[in-house]
Amino acid sequence: MMWILAVTWISILLVNTQAQGTASFSRGNDRNRRCQYTFTVDSPTEASCPSTGSSAEMEALKSRLGLLEALVSRLTGGEAPGTEAQMGLRTAYTQVTGERDRLQEEKAILAQQVEQLQRMVEELQREVERLRSRPCTQQPSQNLPIFSSSVQPGTGTSHSHLGSRPGRTQGDTSSLRDPSWPYGSPAYQELKAEVAEFPAPNPNTEDSTGCGELLWVGEPVTHRKADSIAGRYGVWMQDPEAVSPYGSNMVWRIDTVGTEVRQLYGYEDMDQFTRGFPAKVLLLPDAVESTGAAMYRGSLYYQRRRSRTLIRYELGSESVAARRDLPHAGFHGQFPYSWGGYTDIDFAVDENGLWAIYSTNKAKGAIVISQLDPHTLEVKKSWETNIRKTTVANAFMICGKLYTVASYASPNTTVNYSFDTGTSQSEAVAVPFQNRHRYNSMIDYNPTQRKLFAWDNYHMVSYDVRLGKQQ
Ligand SMILES: *[C@@H]1O[C@H](CO)[C@@H](O)[C@H](O)[C@H]1NC(C)=O
Ligand SMILES: *[C@@H]1O[C@H](CO)[C@@H](O)[C@H](O)[C@H]1NC(C)=O
Repeated sequence: MMWILAVTWISILLVNTQAQGTASFSRGNDRNRRCQYTFTVDSPTEASCPSTGSSAEMEALKSRLGLLEALVSRLTGGEAPGTEAQMGLRTAYTQVTGERDRLQEEKAILAQQVEQLQRMVEELQREVERLRSRPCTQQPSQNLPIFSSSVQPGTGTSHSHLGSRPGRTQGDTSSLRDPSWPYGSPAYQELKAEVAEFPAPNPNTEDSTGCGELLWVGEPVTHRKADSIAGRYGVWMQDPEAVSPYGSNMVWRIDTVGTEVRQLYGYEDMDQFTRGFPAKVLLLPDAVESTGAAMYRGSLYYQRRRSRTLIRYELGSESVAARRDLPHAGFHGQFPYSWGGYTDIDFAVDENGLWAIYSTNKAKGAIVISQLDPHTLEVKKSWETNIRKTTVANAFMICGKLYTVASYASPNTTVNYSFDTGTSQSEAVAVPFQNRHRYNSMIDYNPTQRKLFAWDNYHMVSYDVRLGKQQ
């Protein structure tokens, strides 16, 4: 819920800043109960921050000018009549001098603005000194870092107390008298009301555990569309067997575009996920390779970048609980799914536990399935299939069976192969599957939701599935 406070605070800060046209400050306890002061200064113009880049530019220009001046004086030799080349050079010289003068003017204006800002900062420092002499009452932090581990995970059922935050639950009312404390303002009340109106999340009451073969995959339902290139592909998931402190409604997301992928975003429930407000951002100790991660029993399982190392990152302790190489597994583009993207090692979770889907040199690129001990990441048992990993778009496990999707780009494709770890038999199947956005980079089964989760070209989608009766 803290994100709401953060959003509120930021918007009010902006309003205040505009109204006063100068600056605003705030004070409150941080998470360690230290008194903390924050001030915000309105910049006079948008681009008024003096940048080192512009002075470097000036220097470069000056040295270029110096060279030109030397050249001109050598060419003219101090004599009046000039050739055409000399005339051209003079025009260029005049242009460059004009440019220099313009830059110098800009520099002067910037220097003025810096001075103004310095005066404001001094003023604020005096104000802070004044405030320091008054006692700092217990308040929830005003410097709410949206991306910080101080954000508390919710239970997913706590919508009713969104409106009662903040502060008052701690029996503190003095903060409301402080004019710098924003929560008494109408703007805050408005936001609070809006937040309180969010519908309660649908509890997932379905409790069907019967296993069977995959018969049908529904149409993709979009839950969220990424708004930047960083979200072109990635992995999103819910823990099918969530563990405290996170409830089963928690949604997790990793954008995997880029080379140093380490941010794991947590959303309180599907509703917040759709709205795009993370309640939690965890910084993973090792970078993530691609879209193969999975969430299971309170841990994130993922492949460490450029390695065959599997990592179990425990959400509760926010630390690595297990780290182990997956023996002989190809990695970093050796045996990816057909769309590429370094999808060499793919975790999967189903009714039977935790799996890794990958390949090895020994298997000559055929998909290898290993059941893993979720605690230690040791391989319990492995199966070698007869389908090449690089020819399939993606794969997932349901009830101990591997299923592969034929195409990641075709809007109407099929799940056309299965391998049963119970019997070590493979089978051709033909279950229609839609890649509505034509670039599916991740498909995972969630045994509790009985859905497939997928990431199709910026779109985080899910599919209902229907299973047959156990044979
Ligand atoms: C599945 O579909 C792909 C792509 O159309 C094809 O190459 C492959 O042979 C099919 N596999 C089976 C088992 O039908
Ligand atoms: C894909 O299948 C759906 C329904 O199954 C159909 O409405 C649609 O036209 C098909 N699209 C293409 C490109 O074949």
